[in-house]
Amino acid sequence: MFFIANWKMFGGLNSLNSINKVLGFLKKFKSTRLAKIIYCPPNTLICPMAKKLKSTRIDVGAQNCHKSESFGAFTGSINSSMLRNVGAKYVIIGHSENRSEGENDKLINLKIKSAIKSGLKVIFCIGETLKEKRKKVTNKILNKQMSIGLKKIRNKKNIIIAYEPVWAIGTGLVPNSKDLRKTVDFIKGKNKNLKVLYGGSVNPKNINELKNIKNIDGFLIGGASQDPKKFIDIIKKTYN
Ligand code: 13P
Repeated sequence: MFFIANWKMFGGLNSLNSINKVLGFLKKFKSTRLAKIIYCPPNTLICPMAKKLKSTRIDVGAQNCHKSESFGAFTGSINSSMLRNVGAKYVIIGHSENRSEGENDKLINLKIKSAIKSGLKVIFCIGETLKEKRKKVTNKILNKQMSIGLKKIRNKKNIIIAYEPVWAIGTGLVPNSKDLRKTVDFIKGKNKNLKVLYGGSVNPKNINELKNIKNIDGFLIGGASQDPKKFIDIIKKTYN
């Protein structure tokens, strides 16, 4: 199971200390040895975090990257090879918080290709809005995001899909188990052998229900991942 912490635009150097608790927990609880834990902090923390977590079980990832893996005159941007250079192994691409800032499926496709070229593993986010859910066009929307986002990518072995309904992010709402199982099945049906994670308001209270949805391969966790106690609780309950 994957447990991916997306810190979004939160955290300074002192936040790195909060991971000590998680490292201690992993040492103590052997049942978590199957857990794959990845922290995706803001770019400013990738290098010190990767140094800190070297020779531990936790990997580091970024939250986005530029579409070009080469250097270039792109003020304020960071590309996939630069992320790799400072110790990132993963990158989140297509998060709805970036889609809402104008990132479209075509650009996401270029970013995914560039990340793969640089040797990063990609956590590719897809999800419908509340309006789309109400119109019952969820599968159609996901299909479009997947077919354009993954266009002309033959080797998908370094891609993990994260299903994050936009209406579930930061709201405390999660899809009901039956709907979620069906949607994850739909995504897996279109992408044979890919891991599919769920993200959106995952917390220590709803994890018992979410972990019982057997086709989910892990969780992408926002708010709760910044609090080591909550993050540990989520992992612990998953294996209980
Ligand atoms: P929350 O867990 O805060 O709802 O965020 C989910 C998310 O966007 C993870 O990428």
